[in-house]
Amino acid sequence: MKTLVIITHPNMETSRVNKAWRDELQKHGEITVHELYAAYPDEKIDVAREQKLIEAHDRIIFQYPLYWYSSPPLLKKWFDDVLQYGWAYGTPDASKTAGKEIGVAISTYGTEASYQPSGFNRFTLQELLRPVEALAHFISADYLPHFSLSDVSNLTDERLAQSRLDYIRHIQSVKPVAAARV
Ligand SMILES: Cc1cc2nc3c(=O)[nH]c(=O)nc-3n(C[C@H](O)[C@H](O)[C@H](O)COP(=O)(O)O)c2cc1C
Repeated sequence: MKTLVIITHPNMETSRVNKAWRDELQKHGEITVHELYAAYPDEKIDVAREQKLIEAHDRIIFQYPLYWYSSPPLLKKWFDDVLQYGWAYGTPDASKTAGKEIGVAISTYGTEASYQPSGFNRFTLQELLRPVEALAHFISADYLPHFSLSDVSNLTDERLAQSRLDYIRHIQSVKPVAAARV
């Protein structure tokens, strides 16, 4: 199982969580780490390069800080540019993403309790990530349970250190949920 982690953070210099996660990932030679804002400072995505990267991996994790209940904009552009008709979907041989596993790793300012139906943010992270789940289904990939770290403004060094390890364990052991869904 070859894993690619695509990190989209517009401000890695000021990041605490996503930078720590990236540093942990980089200790694992079997995981490919790809940072979109570093690769494309002008935001012009090399579609052929990205498609080759996807084709070369089985499990793709999109890692980002939650921005307005969604992702930073370069990831939306990546979806728009890279997941092309005739490559990811639409024609009989457009199956380059079929059978891939797709997951998300996100950090949030909001607490875990706030991401509940009765909480301040009203929706769970699983619900807010439905667009990525739907996208995975559309391109015939299997969606994975997400990994998250909440309440980042109250994050102790200990909780961050634990989360680095939990993240790697998650990436190495997570299984698709699609089959269990009704
Ligand atoms: C433009 C912007 C929008 C944000 N929107 C949300 C949001 O919708 N929900 C949330 O919980 N946190 C939100 N945040 C907080 C970030 O998710 C948080 O700062 C980030 O996860 C911390 O990760 P880092 O240390 O890697 O930067 C937002 C931050 C910014 C700058």
